[in-house]
Amino acid sequence: MAGSIVSIIGKYTPRDKSNLIAILQNVQKKKGYITPEAVDSIANHLSISRSQIFGVASFYSQFKFYPPGRNSIKICLGTACHVQGGDFLLNALKSEIGISPNETTADGRFDLERVACLGCCALAPVVMVNDAIFSNMSVVKLKEILNQYE
Ligand code: FES
Repeated sequence: MAGSIVSIIGKYTPRDKSNLIAILQNVQKKKGYITPEAVDSIANHLSISRSQIFGVASFYSQFKFYPPGRNSIKICLGTACHVQGGDFLLNALKSEIGISPNETTADGRFDLERVACLGCCALAPVVMVNDAIFSNMSVVKLKEILNQYE
């Protein structure tokens, strides 16, 4: 696996920080996320630090540094969802599946991400699982919904 990462990254010349975003996009496309090995290889290839990579990547929500689960949960904590109890839902979700945002369950069933707005504030609080939006969420509803996903 490390070898293939090196071959993805090695194509990018010059070895310049201006290639960082393109490299991250390509690694994520090929591997599904930016693996720790990829971060090390990119840092080595571009002669930059790991923290510089994380710093740049943090501006782009598209980059993930954890493996995708079979089902991806997005919990909205934008203003409307926050006011309607989004934090309460997040805590219930964390205790139900045992992970925090930007993590994946050990069995690969779920990954979890917090987002700033899912674009349907009138339906707050909102949770998205894969491509499905669940509105006016409650803790009881949350548990029922999670049971639908293997
Ligand atoms: S704030 Fe949650 S959908 Fe807009």
